[in-house]
Amino acid sequence: MKALVLSGGSGARLRPISHSMPKQLIPVANRPVLEYVIDDIRRLGVTDIAIVVGSWATQIQQALGDGSRFGVHLTYLRQDLPLGLADALRRAGPFLGDDDFVMYLGDNVLREGVAEIAEEFRRTRPAAQLVVHKVADPRAYGVAEVDADGRVLRLVEKPERPRSDLAVVGVYFFTSAIHASVAAIEPSARGELEITDAIQRLVADGAPVRAREYTGFWRDVGEIEHVLDCNRRLLEDLRHRVTGTVEGGAELRGPVVVEDGARVVRSRVTGPAVIGAGTLVEDAEIGPGTAVGRGCLLRSTSLADSVVLDGASISFAGPFARSVIGRSATVGPAGARAGGRAAHRLVVGDHAGVEVAARPDGAG
Ligand code: G1P
Repeated sequence: MKALVLSGGSGARLRPISHSMPKQLIPVANRPVLEYVIDDIRRLGVTDIAIVVGSWATQIQQALGDGSRFGVHLTYLRQDLPLGLADALRRAGPFLGDDDFVMYLGDNVLREGVAEIAEEFRRTRPAAQLVVHKVADPRAYGVAEVDADGRVLRLVEKPERPRSDLAVVGVYFFTSAIHASVAAIEPSARGELEITDAIQRLVADGAPVRAREYTGFWRDVGEIEHVLDCNRRLLEDLRHRVTGTVEGGAELRGPVVVEDGARVVRSRVTGPAVIGAGTLVEDAEIGPGTAVGRGCLLRSTSLADSVVLDGASISFAGPFARSVIGRSATVGPAGARAGGRAAHRLVVGDHAGVEVAARPDGAG
């Protein structure tokens, strides 16, 4: 079996972070999402993996290299325009040949992995085996209607009125039967070749298409709230490990990782939390669910349930929660004044969001 990882796409719902990096490289619990994807694929015993990349090709290649670090072999394929998941699959035809394969969307995180589902696919080899997950509101996903035996009866992409609560997870198992289906479909209303249409065509042709329910934790990191949810859940797997230094009476509670060269000084860190290599945390309070990248500065601040990317600095401000701070961004004390009072001063990039805690006196 081979694997195809799709990492094109623009990540529009993840702006402004996705202005400067692909969503598949967003760190959750301080590891890029794509590393979890590759780990999960390797656990299936699959090591021959192609990654379809778009305009972020260079960053992705720099982050993952040839895959040897993860014990796999990576081949990069180009998709210059985001013309859909089925278009990406078309491009991978020569790589895949007649082999069975797993197609994994590079922004999907399945904490409990798909090993059991892969096992069933290997045993039964239907033309397609989908992974589905019950969600309260499936309108943002492909939606599957499945009978009691696990046979897929119908698939619809992002329906306004879903006929089931089973969202299609971004992990699909295929035999080579999918290629003819992909070759036969036309672009959808949004101008993309939809994988959902290609699979629906298999269903219409009477080919065996099956679905297995995944009941673990699943998110695609397509939006900021999902990034924070993933970060929080994956941090729960953290084992306490301190290779940096903890000084000046600083206190660590619960599972906390303090990486090499990181310093926690006169601060309290309540896990699960990770402090990246070379970061300084001083006179600060770091709460559960927080992942701080490498080379950051957190001074006289309070931060919980948040993601701080490499090189960012937060000082003399806060408290903050459910925040995502981009690479080398700075959040600091006000130098500006307005009407004789210290004033907030913001340099906020395109599509950024700032939510300010209302003052108790209602003054703003
Ligand atoms: C894609 C698929 C959709 C699936 C989702 C899972 O949607 O088209 O069927 O449910 O991935 O992440 P997209 O995220 O490209 O909108």
